[in-house]
Amino acid sequence: MAAGLIAKAIAANRHMPDFHYNLAIVLRAQGKLKEAVAGYQRAIDLKPDYAEAYNNLGNVWKTLGELDSARACFEQALRCKPGNADTHYSLGILCSDLGDRSGAALHFHRCLDHDPDDSRGVSMLLAHLGLAIAPERTPQAQLLNLYDVRSRFWDRESSYFGHVLVAEGLQKHAARTNLDILDIGCGTGLVGAQIRHLAGKLDGVDISLPMLEKARDKEIYDSLDQADFVSFMCAHPDSYDAILGAATLIHFGDLHAVFQAAAKCLRDGGLFVFTLFSNEPGVSIEAGRMGFSVATNDKLAKSGCYTHSANYVERLAAGSEFSIQMLQEVVQEYDQNDNRIPGILVVLRRGGQESTGPGELA
Ligand SMILES: C[S@@+](CC[C@H](N)C(=O)[O-])C[C@H]1O[C@@H](n2cnc3c(N)ncnc32)[C@H](O)[C@@H]1O
Repeated sequence: MAAGLIAKAIAANRHMPDFHYNLAIVLRAQGKLKEAVAGYQRAIDLKPDYAEAYNNLGNVWKTLGELDSARACFEQALRCKPGNADTHYSLGILCSDLGDRSGAALHFHRCLDHDPDDSRGVSMLLAHLGLAIAPERTPQAQLLNLYDVRSRFWDRESSYFGHVLVAEGLQKHAARTNLDILDIGCGTGLVGAQIRHLAGKLDGVDISLPMLEKARDKEIYDSLDQADFVSFMCAHPDSYDAILGAATLIHFGDLHAVFQAAAKCLRDGGLFVFTLFSNEPGVSIEAGRMGFSVATNDKLAKSGCYTHSANYVERLAAGSEFSIQMLQEVVQEYDQNDNRIPGILVVLRRGGQESTGPGELA
């Protein structure tokens, strides 16, 4: 439909570079990569300093496996528009894929110079490559960017199961219904839909407005707040019987502050149920010692995710007010090739004894 309309506009005036550029974007989205190349090329022929067209063309060449052509396009895009953060990001990724660590470092740092809030998550990627210390958590600007896009398809995501696992964890360990429940990083409300029947009160908090709007449309939550969930939990002491975090603590390295905030926010005997990605084989010795790191999996690292070890969760729980009710290997997500991404489902209780089976709320 869009392609047809743009094609008509081109038929009426063949000399508008933007028409060819927009058609190429649509063709690329349809998977017609060769046609997209031709479209970008026509846009560039009409406007030789068209930086965005060079940048996008570089990305299509990359998808086609033509890495030299991709690099040439990105470099040309930078000549047309020096300091373009998008192009430095693309070149950083390309260098990283080619094993050129110094090239990746150079372009990622240039990208950060022009995008100091780090909406593309370059600081996570520098840490992923072992070129910098990891940030304490996913940069807020990156989260906003990431979930702005993901909000459009999150409810149709068929390779994600974190919400189902967390609901099962709660169901197994909550001995009664009518619970006051807080869903941290509630996103579009997938968790809420699974556990509403267990809740007297169900509140959600998320940093991303587009995700929250989808949750609001579902009309399952009693209240929804746009906030950082650590600050929210600190500001609501002794308020909930259960706190649920499906695939949300994955955006934190050290979980100390999250555990402290959750302990403060839960009533005595309350449950803290969440999923993490597991530390994969191949993490650095330092990461192994600490118990967490930026994900070694490329796709997870680009999505601002950390991995954690079960050992680390046990240590944190032992040093806090929580007892472990459940610590289980799970798969909350599959990658683009349908490979299992290893994860952990954790159920903690504030106070109380370690459990060998389902426990009861105080
Ligand atoms: C992978 S999605 C999971 C959403 C939902 N829990 C589910 O299972 O569908 C992670 C969500 O956590 C939110 N998030 C991450 N860090 C956050 C923070 N510090 N404060 C509030 N929301 C956060 C993101 O905006 C996003 O909506």
